[in-house]
Amino acid sequence: MRMYDIIVKKRDGGELTKEEIEFFVDGYTKGDIPDYQASALTMAIYFQGMTPEETATLTQAMVDSGETIDLSAIHGKKVDKHSTGGVGDKVTFIVGPLVASVGVPVAKMSGRGLGHTGGTLDKLESIKGLEIEMTKEKFIENVNTHKLAVAGQTGNLAPADKKLYALRDVTGTVDSLPLIAGSIMSKKLASGADSIVLDVKTGSGAFMKTLEDSENLAREMVNIGNNLGRNTVAVISDMNQPLGYEVGNANEIREAAEILQGKNVEDLRKLSLEIASHMAVLAEVFSSYEEAYSALEANIENGKAFQSLRTLIEAQGGDVSMIDDLDKLPQAKYDIEVKADKDGFVSEIDAESIGIAAMYLGAGRATKEDQINHGVGITLNKKIGDEVKAGEALVILHSDEEAAQASVDKVMEAYTISGERVEKPTLIHNIIK
Ligand code: URA
Repeated sequence: MRMYDIIVKKRDGGELTKEEIEFFVDGYTKGDIPDYQASALTMAIYFQGMTPEETATLTQAMVDSGETIDLSAIHGKKVDKHSTGGVGDKVTFIVGPLVASVGVPVAKMSGRGLGHTGGTLDKLESIKGLEIEMTKEKFIENVNTHKLAVAGQTGNLAPADKKLYALRDVTGTVDSLPLIAGSIMSKKLASGADSIVLDVKTGSGAFMKTLEDSENLAREMVNIGNNLGRNTVAVISDMNQPLGYEVGNANEIREAAEILQGKNVEDLRKLSLEIASHMAVLAEVFSSYEEAYSALEANIENGKAFQSLRTLIEAQGGDVSMIDDLDKLPQAKYDIEVKADKDGFVSEIDAESIGIAAMYLGAGRATKEDQINHGVGITLNKKIGDEVKAGEALVILHSDEEAAQASVDKVMEAYTISGERVEKPTLIHNIIK
């Protein structure tokens, strides 16, 4: 088999066989196929697309290129959750304890990564003492005992994707639906879950800006999951503004804990219950969405969901008093109000700019070596549709510097205030199964 023939076949619109896709993924991972041929093929895929069978085969080949995590020693159906990424997205900290409280086993492997705020692990490390490095045996034991554990990702998962994603990044071939879907799903499938709920974001702060693109990506991912024997459901949710009111690390943990204690931050609570309900149905703990939703809601009201968060923290050596008394979480030195310059209604909040403003404060990493400052972050006082008067605070910056001018400017850039009344955006656009 020759790589040249595979490139020409795809360039001319042909459908690649399983053997051809495996030849490419295997050869590229080992270094036998050079970057220039891999980039020619990804460009051909960019223009010609892939059939659902080709996409599933590509994904499986990327999974098989490295280690996979074996969760079979965990009792029950393991359901994972993945978000395509957004600002203020602390849903994992809510749905993990929530679904664990109704008996769904949650074996969460998470990363750090670069971003406007820390990754899941960084945010959790706002809690003093919380240990995210543990042996595989301990991880499995914790899930079997407490239904929930969160650990740092170990192992060499989907190395073919790692290499290919880096290549796509510099050759203009990231924006190909089958390649994005295969890339995301290869990492999820290698992590060992039986079923997956995807939170596909849509809007100005999302990877996919239009609803149509988000739905197409969701369909590709659901097809891959179902083709490879994992029940997969995608929730398409809005990212035209940050989710909830807190953006940062410790303050996102605080907001998640408050939701579990029954606080009604409308968008965040609703999306968390939606995702948790689909997870509980896929785990076969409930037979219907409605049944799952009301049981989960009841566990917020009766305190079981919050107790499940406490158990997670205790089991992993964290200081649970920081969750019982949220004022004990790390806090920044200064609170700086960023004020509206006119009367009106908030019509837009560019989520990405809010994320960048948080990163300027030190909430995220610009390079791998950067340290996260857990106490800094942003509290939004106003969201889309809210009325505002000139001089009223739009947000509060939690900063360790007295004047955080770059962040203030970025927040002012993020907010648009209109003279006309504005509707609140729809939160959940579609469910794709
Ligand atoms: N995120 C991924 O993991 N892969 C892509 O291709 C795009 C976004």
